[in-house]
Amino acid sequence: MAKLTEAVRADIDASVLCWLATVGADGTPNVSPKEIFCAEGEAALLIADIASPVSVANIRANPSVCVSFVDVFRQLGWKIVGEARVIARDDPEAMRVGAALIGMAEPDYPVRHVIRVTPTKIARIRAPSYVLHPEMDEAERLARTYRAYGVRPAAR
Ligand SMILES: Cc1cc2nc3c(=O)[nH]c(=O)nc-3n(C[C@H](O)[C@H](O)[C@H](O)COP(=O)(O)O)c2cc1C
Repeated sequence: MAKLTEAVRADIDASVLCWLATVGADGTPNVSPKEIFCAEGEAALLIADIASPVSVANIRANPSVCVSFVDVFRQLGWKIVGEARVIARDDPEAMRVGAALIGMAEPDYPVRHVIRVTPTKIARIRAPSYVLHPEMDEAERLARTYRAYGVRPAAR
């Protein structure tokens, strides 16, 4: 088992979207975005099933998953490979492990299941610029991505 370190958890909190990849019983791959996700301490990544029937069916058939998320401005993220389990919303375990997750979604977006991913491997995702242009500092990288994506950061 791999642990969600403080660095990984900070990036989970700062990320707006993750991508959950699963594999169906017949081997068909599937990937879809999820906005409602959070860490359960160091132990697990929790993802809300609000409208993800294929992900849920695939996990029931094959628990191996991969989840990735990136900060598009810092151009950094993580890839988490793990074993997932589907916990029904009316199972008391859903609230026991996923109260914070459920609170992020409900009442506006009812959670059907809590998807609990136990990580087996966690790897950094970095844009190629980190290797090809190591001289670029964070301020320059941010300025470039803001420009590339047509975004102006809010004044603080
Ligand atoms: C920006 C964005 C955020 C989303 N967040 C979630 C989410 O947190 N939970 C969820 O179940 N579906 C979410 N969805 C919807 C699913 O990605 C969508 O229903 C998808 O088709 C589900 O596919 P699946 O059944 O293959 O998992 C989101 C979609 C978008 C575009």
